[in-house]
Amino acid sequence: MTRRRMTLWGGRFADRLSDEAFAYTVDLADRRLLSFDLAGSIAHVEMLGATGIIAAAEARTIREGLERIAAEDFEFVDGDEDVHSAVERRLIELVGEVGEKLHTGRSRNDQIALDLRLYLRAAAVGRRNDLAELIGALTDQAELHADTAIPTYTHLQQAQPSTLGQHLLAHGWALSRDRERLLDLDRRLAESPLGAGASAGSSLSLDPAQTAAALGFASSFVNSLDAVGSRDVAAEFGFVLTQAMVNLSRLAEELVLWATSEFGWLSLSDAYATGSSALPHKKNPDVAELVRGRTASAIGHLNALLVLQKGLPLTYNRDLQEDKPALFWLDDTLASSCGALAGVIRTATFHPPAPSPVTEALGIAENLVRRGVPFRTAHAAVGKLVALLDGRPFTEASADVLDAAGVQSADLVVRPPQAGRSVADQVASLRSSTS
Ligand code: ARG
Repeated sequence: MTRRRMTLWGGRFADRLSDEAFAYTVDLADRRLLSFDLAGSIAHVEMLGATGIIAAAEARTIREGLERIAAEDFEFVDGDEDVHSAVERRLIELVGEVGEKLHTGRSRNDQIALDLRLYLRAAAVGRRNDLAELIGALTDQAELHADTAIPTYTHLQQAQPSTLGQHLLAHGWALSRDRERLLDLDRRLAESPLGAGASAGSSLSLDPAQTAAALGFASSFVNSLDAVGSRDVAAEFGFVLTQAMVNLSRLAEELVLWATSEFGWLSLSDAYATGSSALPHKKNPDVAELVRGRTASAIGHLNALLVLQKGLPLTYNRDLQEDKPALFWLDDTLASSCGALAGVIRTATFHPPAPSPVTEALGIAENLVRRGVPFRTAHAAVGKLVALLDGRPFTEASADVLDAAGVQSADLVVRPPQAGRSVADQVASLRSSTS
């Protein structure tokens, strides 16, 4: 049995749409926007009633119908073309013909632009919380390892002595900027497109400012063509999430590296590691590897969001339907990746080996600087000492070797580098910005 198709058009068509074309064009992804679509429709119908475009009693009936839909366990049916038509179908089932007045002064073009903005604003809040959870895992471990010595790396070669606390917090700050970007983005998301209609608004006396305020937007659109035809803010959301995934991926890469027997910096808990079907001894960091791997797909989705826009004439084009799978994927993947990585970090045991004594080379050169030696000369002297020692630690340098290099034995007692604010201080700032 073929169910009646719920399309919101048809007057000018003599023949019905082929099953193939219907299946090809139907939007299933936007079902996820149901609650936002309903909220938008409720605000819209209240405005229609308040402005007298439809009778107050009609507006009330429609609003009550929409509220019933919001409260029920909504069932989509095969013939629903998209979330908008599904809601209208159900509304007419519930309240009858008056439901046909809901779409007055509105197009699916401003409706989808609205639903998307409502979704993205809520998602930004959610992802800020997820990032905060991951930052929390990092700050807790950083606090525990405020004094655990590690080498920093440049070019993946040991560079200077530091602490694991500082290193973990470096990731925390990157994630904290991702959170900031999500907040900043809201300034541009907070403009309601409702009232822009198909492309150039409506001749009815709509009140876009009323719907904007009812839906919590800071303002209503300024240019209707821009309101329905642009997706730059959606792509910006995609960028912010993708950059966050890239930051997670860098952290994940280090967890993978640190879990190797060669590095030996951490042991994964059984709860967040996987085994090998073939090699009985293996304990693999699959969660971190998948974060790294999924970041490749994130970059692909961001790319799609940008390319989707590049050749589009104004205003709305159906191509834009394809923004949603990309945005939803990014949203879901950042959410699950933050949670899983936070679990890995919270349950891991960190035990990095001490940095190589060679990381004190700069500290020694700076001791020469303290007694008036020009830095370039000091750099050369310590370089020579390193060459003469040929892999042995500075403490093993004989008086002759020190002499040959132009280094004094007192120069070997280095002071720790001043590496930004203290771990305790940074932990406190990150905690206060995420609480
Ligand atoms: N499903 C469409 C999208 O996601 C929204 C409605 C399409 N509008 C239209 N005029 N066909 O962009």
